[in-house]
Amino acid sequence: MSQQTIILITGANSGVGYATAQILAEHPNHHVILACRDPQKGQKALSELQSKSLKGTLSLLQLDVEDDTSITQAVHTVDEQHNRLDVLISNAGSAAPNSSGRARLNQIFSTNVIGATLVSEAFIPLLLKSEKPYLIQVSSGLGSMKMATDPSSVMYAAPWDEYRASKAALNMITVQMHKRLQSHVRVFAFCPGLVRSNLRGEDEAAVSAYGRAGDPLESGRGILGIVLGERDGEAGGFVNKDGSFPW
Ligand SMILES: NC(=O)c1ccc[n+]([C@@H]2O[C@H](COP(=O)([O-])OP(=O)(O)OC[C@H]3O[C@@H](n4cnc5c(N)ncnc54)[C@H](OP(=O)(O)O)[C@@H]3O)[C@@H](O)[C@H]2O)c1
Repeated sequence: MSQQTIILITGANSGVGYATAQILAEHPNHHVILACRDPQKGQKALSELQSKSLKGTLSLLQLDVEDDTSITQAVHTVDEQHNRLDVLISNAGSAAPNSSGRARLNQIFSTNVIGATLVSEAFIPLLLKSEKPYLIQVSSGLGSMKMATDPSSVMYAAPWDEYRASKAALNMITVQMHKRLQSHVRVFAFCPGLVRSNLRGEDEAAVSAYGRAGDPLESGRGILGIVLGERDGEAGGFVNKDGSFPW
């Protein structure tokens, strides 16, 4: 068997991260590291995924993207166990649905921008040890400036100002990382689409976005296409499972 592809997903215990872990771990050559801030939630996700008899392998890692010590320790553990990282899926995110004002802004930017940036930067040395590394920032079409300013876009009228601003900022970080790393790392911003998750809250109306949200396994399939190299020509872009978005 050829060497396993080592994949780390932040925020892997829920929603898009969990579904992506499932899709990626269906492949025998994949080792998926579930990076979760809450060890109990992480263990529950790991046990559930292991009960599905997936062909790849799985492991659990504690990682709070808002905690520098946790980030440093996580990088150290991956270095010790694998000596490289082939795919980083920077997925952990928050819309802070239950807070407002400064607290909401702090929570959203701390997770979606500062956390995502610092985690990505911290893992770059391990990505550079991979023969064909990928860095995937899970963004949102709501972060597109072009769609936000186009009255004909479905994204035009959406609210969530703070969240939209955080994803626009993450998009700029992604562009900058692509320009810096493109000679070796394929960097993508990926929109998972409107799918079921705890992002909007934990009651059924919020999880399903009042019945509009799709299946996060579809988001995982979109990310799988990137990991399998099917989207290499779009590196440096802002993509979803079906195509691309304007920045
Ligand atoms: N679902 C959608 O419709 C949609 C659409 C566009 C983009 N997205 C993006 O998709 C990504 C995943 O979100 P989701 O929709 O799957 O929501 P979710 O179900 O709430 O999952 C978010 C994950 O991020 C984790 N997380 C939050 N703060 C963290 C921190 N400080 N350190 C580590 N992990 C942290 C959560 O952990 P806990 O369980 O411990 O809170 C959870 O595992 C986000 O970046 C989101 O912006 C989602």
